[in-house]
Amino acid sequence: MTFAVAPLFRPPAAKRGKTPMGALGTLAALARNPLEIWSDLHFERPMLVGKTYFGWRAVVSDPAAVRRVFLDNAANYRKDAVQLRVLRPGLGNGLLTAEGETWKAQRRALAPLFSPRQVASFAPAMHRVARAHADSIAAHRDGAVIAADEEMGLVALKVLEQTLFSQGLAREASQFQQAVTRYFNTIGRISPLDVLGAPDFLPRLGRIRGKESLAFFAAAVNDIIGARRALIASGATAPDDLLTLLLRAADPETGRGLSEEDLRANIVTFIGAGHETTANALTWTLYLLSQSPAWRARVEAEIDAHFDASDESDPTEKLPVTKAVFEEAMRLYPPAANLSREAIAEDWLAGHRIPAGTVVLTPPYVLHRHKTLWRNADDFDPSRFLPGEREKIDRYAYIPFGAGPRVCIGQAFAMQEGLIVLAHLLGRVRLDLFPGHPVGLQQRITLRPTHGMRMVLRPRTARPD
Ligand code: HEM
Repeated sequence: MTFAVAPLFRPPAAKRGKTPMGALGTLAALARNPLEIWSDLHFERPMLVGKTYFGWRAVVSDPAAVRRVFLDNAANYRKDAVQLRVLRPGLGNGLLTAEGETWKAQRRALAPLFSPRQVASFAPAMHRVARAHADSIAAHRDGAVIAADEEMGLVALKVLEQTLFSQGLAREASQFQQAVTRYFNTIGRISPLDVLGAPDFLPRLGRIRGKESLAFFAAAVNDIIGARRALIASGATAPDDLLTLLLRAADPETGRGLSEEDLRANIVTFIGAGHETTANALTWTLYLLSQSPAWRARVEAEIDAHFDASDESDPTEKLPVTKAVFEEAMRLYPPAANLSREAIAEDWLAGHRIPAGTVVLTPPYVLHRHKTLWRNADDFDPSRFLPGEREKIDRYAYIPFGAGPRVCIGQAFAMQEGLIVLAHLLGRVRLDLFPGHPVGLQQRITLRPTHGMRMVLRPRTARPD
């Protein structure tokens, strides 16, 4: 089959000024939509370092410097205070937010669950969830309108339920989704007080309003742990999943278990980190395909020809075009739009002195659209991720999953899940953006569509089976 050359199209980006904002503008933008703090200059200069109103800041888009922060000199860069203030109320000292020896012990204990073999063993469960979800979507009438963002959130939560928490999440998936959204919209908003380093006892409006979602998580986690402990007490064999691993989590080097508090923190961490990110990557993929008929045709043809919906193995190798589109979606709309660290001791990055205490920002949103690193940086062009081209991308120019020792532990899990969900869904239906639906992007911990993503579905009949 031959395909028309896809014309380039430029999907929405955040509002961008020409030069970096002043202090007040930055504070307002951080509270409104942190993506708006990035100016043209950030997308043109590999490094911007200097003393700002908030202290020393470095915005790093030089791949060699990114590598030094995340890998070569990673021990010198800890997670910074603002990030921890936003994440810790919900995620405690779980794997994403823990530091030092606590982090090391947790990572060692949890790594076996995310080994390539273990992730491959989750494929059948992912297929079952994705197939049932595609069935439920395809059951809608031709022309029905769906909230694609909510659908992707639900399917990602159900995947977690069937893989990492196999006794379920003790609550309806939709309740979890609402609680996570509330958390992101309240505690997840960066308060000017946090950026200014105001002490913790000063009340933050977002944090007060977010209390409800914290109470929801605490109650759900109680029930999740209670159900598993009851199962174990009954003498039944516990399923081989994250929860069992966490309960048994003896660090192989020290033999120490996780504290009760860290156990709880990790349950929330894996639910939070493990579904919102993937759901957003999938939502943006569906949006981008709806705007590019040529790429959509290629993806559909690939799925029709090479994806067997009854084969429950990892389909990644068979779907290079679908994978390229998914990776391009995470380039333009990286779910973790900003990554940041704080320099413990003085360092040098790309010839710039980085004083101790500097907050080092390596925002994938900027890096992935940087003019010096990408051709047609703001355009949708999945061909850059096709085999033959993909290998030319600098490892440290594309970091949707981070890099180095703290790289996303769920990276292989998310890639496999993303492709399985897309293959089942796009084999069954075609999704178009609801006419007139406004598409904007907003950073609320993850990079989400501001008004959700309403889409119109049409059944597909092209499947040969
Ligand atoms: C498309 C989906 C995903 C994206 C884009 C993503 C992105 C990231 C990024 C950028 C980091 C590093 C943060 C930093 O360095 O500050 C990270 C860490 C993490 N991710 Fe993911 N993630 C995804 C899916 C998942 C899934 C499916 C899980 C679990 C099932 C997960 C669990 C975690 C955890 C626990 C960490 C902390 C790792 C550590 O610090 O040792 N993520 N993720």
